[in-house]
Amino acid sequence: MKNETLAPFPKNFFWGASSSAYQVEGANLEDGKGPSCQDVKEVPAGTSDLTVCADFYHHYKEDIALMAEMGFKSYRFSIAWTRILPEGTGEINQKGIDFYNNVIDECLKYGIEPIVTMFHFDMPAALDKRGSWSNPESVEWFVNFASILFQSFGDRVKYWLTINEQNMLTLVGPVIGTMCIPEGTENVLKEIYQQNHHMLVAQAKAMVLCHEMLPEAKIGPAPNISLVYPASCKPEDVIAAQNFNAVRNWLYLDMAVNGVYNNLVWAWLGKYDAQPTFAEGDKEAMKNAHPDFIGFNYYNTATVAEEDGSVAFNPVGGDQQNSDGLAGMYKTVRNENLGKTEFGWEIDPVGFRATIREMYSRYRLPMLVTENGLGAYDTLTEDGKVHDSYRIHYLQDHIHQLQEAITDGCEMMGYNPWSAIDLISTHEGMRKRYGFIYVDRDEFDLKTMKRYKKDSFEWYKKVIATNGADLSE
Ligand code: BG6
Repeated sequence: MKNETLAPFPKNFFWGASSSAYQVEGANLEDGKGPSCQDVKEVPAGTSDLTVCADFYHHYKEDIALMAEMGFKSYRFSIAWTRILPEGTGEINQKGIDFYNNVIDECLKYGIEPIVTMFHFDMPAALDKRGSWSNPESVEWFVNFASILFQSFGDRVKYWLTINEQNMLTLVGPVIGTMCIPEGTENVLKEIYQQNHHMLVAQAKAMVLCHEMLPEAKIGPAPNISLVYPASCKPEDVIAAQNFNAVRNWLYLDMAVNGVYNNLVWAWLGKYDAQPTFAEGDKEAMKNAHPDFIGFNYYNTATVAEEDGSVAFNPVGGDQQNSDGLAGMYKTVRNENLGKTEFGWEIDPVGFRATIREMYSRYRLPMLVTENGLGAYDTLTEDGKVHDSYRIHYLQDHIHQLQEAITDGCEMMGYNPWSAIDLISTHEGMRKRYGFIYVDRDEFDLKTMKRYKKDSFEWYKKVIATNGADLSE
C-alpha cells in the first residue's frame, strides 16, 4: 500500500523513552535493596558490572528534568523487585517504595506519564535459590509483588507492563543472565517451557489483579516482536518462517491476548516431551486475562530458511536479535537487503511497519512501542558534544515507518525508544550506548558521571514538540 499522505500522529501520543532498573539505577545493594540475578551473575569479560550503571538512583531528579526538557510525554521504567522485596517475598523495604514514589512524583511534576514495567530481567537472587520460575510458587511470588506495586503506586501509575521480553527470557536467557535451570534437570527444553508457562500464568493473574484493584488502569505484556521473513518464496522457507514466528512471537501474544497456546509451538514441544504441565486453575487463569494494549520492543526483523539438518539442538543459543536457529524448525540466514549496526544487529525500519501491521491484524489491540533504538559507540567531544547523526537517522526512519503503519490503520499509543539515557547493555557493557543523554563514564572508569545532551536530544525535542510532524535533522 503506497500512502501518498501520512496520517498525523494521534493527539496525546506517548512520546518518551525507556530504561530498566538493573541497567540504569546502580546503587544495587543500597538502602536495603537485595541482590537480583543480575547482581550475582558473571558479567561477560571486558564489560562493566551493574553496581553503578548510570547511577540514576542518585541522579533521577536531574535525569527526569532532562527528559522533561526534551518534552517527554511518557517515561517507561521498571521497578526492581529486590528494592521493594529484598528477598523476593516477605518484608517490604520502605526505602525502595520511597524511591519509586519519588521517581513517579518527579515524572508527574512535569506531566510525564509513568509507564511501569513490573519485571525487567531481574529475578531476586533469593528466589533463584528457590528454583526461580521453575518453582510453581513463582506464580504467587510474582502476583504478591504485583499486588504491592498496585497498592503502593496505583493511585498515580495508570499504565503497567507485566514482564519485559518474556520471549527473550525463554529463548536466550543465558546471554541476558536470567536463566536458572535446577541442577540435575534431564529435559532442559521442558524445564524452560515450564518456566515460561509459570510466567504466562503469573502474567495472566497479574493482569486480572490489576483490573480488580485498579479499574482505571491499563495493563499489557511487553515481548520483543520481530516479524520473521522467509529467505525465499520456496514453500519450505515459508514453513520455516512460520515456525520461527510461532516460537519467537505468536506464542507470547496468542497466550497474553487469547489465553491459548500457539498450536505450532505446542506440537513442536510435544516432539521432545516438553509440553508444560498445567496446575489446577491455570487454563482458566489464562483465559480470564485480557490485556488493554500490547507493549512491544522492536529492533529488527529476522530471516530464516528451511532447516537442512545443519542446526545443532540448542534451545537457548544467540542473543535477542540474532538467533542460532532451531533444529528441525528453521535455519537463520543473513538478509542481504539490510544494513547492520556496529554491534551486528540488522536494521529494518520497513520491517517495523510490517511487524506492526501483522500484530494489529492478528490481535486488534492498541499498541505501545516500549523499545526501539540504535546501540552504538558514541564519542564525547572536547567541547561536550556527542554528534550521533547515525542514531537520528535510525530513529527518523523508524518513526517514519511508524507513521506509515498508523496511516495503514494500526492503532498506536506511543513511541518509547531505548533508551532515555545511556545505561549498561544486557551483555555488551557500557560501550554500547543507546541514550539521548550521554553519561560520562567508561566501561570501568566512572569518570565524572556528568550528563551531556547528544545531538539526538535536541532533534527528539523538536520531533516531540511538533508531534512527529517534523523529523528533519
Ligand atoms: C532489549 C531489552 O532486549 O534490548 C533491554 O529489553 C536491552 O534490556 C535492549 O538493553 C538492547 O539490548 P542490548 O543487548 O543491546 O542491551
